[in-house]
Amino acid sequence: MKGLILSGGKGTRLYPLTYTRAKQLIPVANKPILFRVIEAIREAGITEIGIVIGDTGPEIREAVGDGSRWGATITYIQQEQPLGLAHAVKISRDFLGDERFVMFLGDNVIQGGIHRLITDFARHPEWNSQIVLTRVEHPEQYGVAKLTADGRVERLIEKPKTPPSDLALVGIYMFDSHIFEATEQISPSWRGELEITDAIQWLVDHGHTVYPYVHQGWWIDTGRPDDMLEANSKVLEELTPEILGFVDEQSDVDSRVTVQAGAQIINSTIRGPAIIGENTRIVNSYIGPFTSIYHNVVIENCEIDRSIVLEHSVMRDINVRVQDSLIGRHALVQRSEYRPRALKLNLGDYSKIGLV
Ligand code: G1P
Repeated sequence: MKGLILSGGKGTRLYPLTYTRAKQLIPVANKPILFRVIEAIREAGITEIGIVIGDTGPEIREAVGDGSRWGATITYIQQEQPLGLAHAVKISRDFLGDERFVMFLGDNVIQGGIHRLITDFARHPEWNSQIVLTRVEHPEQYGVAKLTADGRVERLIEKPKTPPSDLALVGIYMFDSHIFEATEQISPSWRGELEITDAIQWLVDHGHTVYPYVHQGWWIDTGRPDDMLEANSKVLEELTPEILGFVDEQSDVDSRVTVQAGAQIINSTIRGPAIIGENTRIVNSYIGPFTSIYHNVVIENCEIDRSIVLEHSVMRDINVRVQDSLIGRHALVQRSEYRPRALKLNLGDYSKIGLV
């Protein structure tokens, strides 16, 4: 089997962070989501992986490289325009050949990996496709499945106004080569995209077997800032903590905290689950649960809770607690000594500030 990761897309719902960075490279629990996806595919025993890239291709190539770090071979497939998930499958035909494959959206995080799904699909050569479904609160935001009373796929609809069920399509799909015929037959949707949901419906309509697996654990499509924070919390909860950096005697770091190599914790309290990145300095501060501070960050005289802070940022002398926040790279947040005492902001487009 081969793996296909979709890593195009502009990430508009994560502006301003994604003006300067591919959304798949934003870390949750200090590891880019895309790396987590590659690891999940590798853990399932797949070594040949294709990554479909768009405008952010150069950055993704640079971060991921040739895959040797994971014992995988990576082939990059350029998608000139974001014309949909089924279009991405179509242009990956040469890479995929006639092999069965798993397609994984590069911004999805799922509990428990995909090992079992891949094994089940391999055991059932009569399945032409396997889809993953999970119950969600707002099915209208996803592809939605209607199953028959005996659990077969009856109908799949992309972002229906009146959802026929609460079973959303998770961004993990398994196919055999029949999917290529489907991608040739369907037409673009109202959003101008070739929808993978329509292609799978085509398989169902033409008598092919699509097996629906209902996933019980958590799954997050990290499209919006809240989703990033939620994914970060979930992954942190499952991390095995380790202390590789320095913690001084005045600090109180609990057992669910990871301190990465070269980090320094000085006179601070850290309540897990939390992770402090490489060469980061936390001084006279409180870091609360569900927080990831990435590499080369400086935090001094601050209280930060349930947040993500990216690399090379500095936060200093802030006299209110920072919570539920996403701070980008090279950001500087500090109290100013100079008069007038006022908020002095220099924000990127689409930034959001919640004042106390
Ligand atoms: C895509 C699919 C949708 C699926 C979702 C999962 O939506 O079209 O069927 O439920 O991924 O993340 P998009 O992210 O393109 O809106």
